[in-house]
Amino acid sequence: MEIKTVGVVGCGQMGGGIVEVIAKAGYPVITREINQELLDKGLAHIRKSMDKAVQRGKLSPEDRDAAWSRIYGTLDLADFAQADFVIEAIIERMDLKQAVFGDLSNICPPTTIFASNTSSLNLAEVAATSDRPDRFLGTHFFNPAPVMPLVEIVRALATSDKTLATGQAFVISLGKKPILAKDSPGFVVNRLLIPYLIDAIRVFEHGLASRDDIDKGMKLGAGHPMGPLELCDYIGLDTMLYVADVLYEELGDAWLKAPPLLRRMVAAGYLGRKSGRGFYDYNKS
Ligand SMILES: NC(=O)c1ccc[n+]([C@@H]2O[C@H](COP(=O)([O-])OP(=O)(O)OC[C@H]3O[C@@H](n4cnc5c(N)ncnc54)[C@H](O)[C@@H]3O)[C@@H](O)[C@H]2O)c1
Repeated sequence: MEIKTVGVVGCGQMGGGIVEVIAKAGYPVITREINQELLDKGLAHIRKSMDKAVQRGKLSPEDRDAAWSRIYGTLDLADFAQADFVIEAIIERMDLKQAVFGDLSNICPPTTIFASNTSSLNLAEVAATSDRPDRFLGTHFFNPAPVMPLVEIVRALATSDKTLATGQAFVISLGKKPILAKDSPGFVVNRLLIPYLIDAIRVFEHGLASRDDIDKGMKLGAGHPMGPLELCDYIGLDTMLYVADVLYEELGDAWLKAPPLLRRMVAAGYLGRKSGRGFYDYNKS
């Protein structure tokens, strides 16, 4: 199936990054936000990211201008009627995602493929309000989307072989590297990564080593580019807690239970880099 136009619902951290990747790959892309202020903010963020790529010599000014001209921002989901492939990247809430796919089912032609960027929700349930569970899959990009090469292609129970193949080919055409995963808690990467990060928090919480030594240990001893506590701050402690709770709820392993310290840090607003404080203090110069 030929994909000519792409839609991305939500222009936040992930949606904006995905829009940038798609526009740079040569596709016209429509993105929708819930109000003008958020749409302007999302588009400005994409423009800034492209400008930075130009400054770093990774993108020519001509290619930036061409990519920028392919992006169309809207508040009206009806504009997605012309999209052949729609990626939903709104906040991680089942009811809101289901509402989007219910609405899109009445707007898009039956041939349009629907994809969700969910990190942790049950994909079969997200797809349940759409009229096309066979043409529905997960495309899980990683943060920041313009930089990270991986996309997990997630097969829900009803996803057809053809949809999966189209999704895979599309992601490759974006210059990304796909891996295949079944619709299961955390897919592949978060299923392996989140338990490790939770354990690092536990090691810190129990005073088995200092914050700096935990991070130094995994960087120097395991060759990781970032220590686990630094990585928790980068991901966002609220996101970490959310995914940990989903893994624990679905898999039931006590080892996956979020450490009390993580829950308290989130309650106190220590969300990591985005709030200025997490395991590290980002307000210090
Ligand atoms: N942050 C990450 O590291 C990461 C990584 C991979 C996947 N994800 C997943 O990507 C999705 C988006 O996460 P994010 O970090 O970009 O969140 P975000 O809060 O930065 O962005 C979500 C955006 O969706 C918008 N939105 C909400 N309802 C909408 C609707 N009905 N129509 C259009 N826009 C709507 C919000 O206004 C917001 O701007 C989530 O499913 C999340 O689990 C996040």
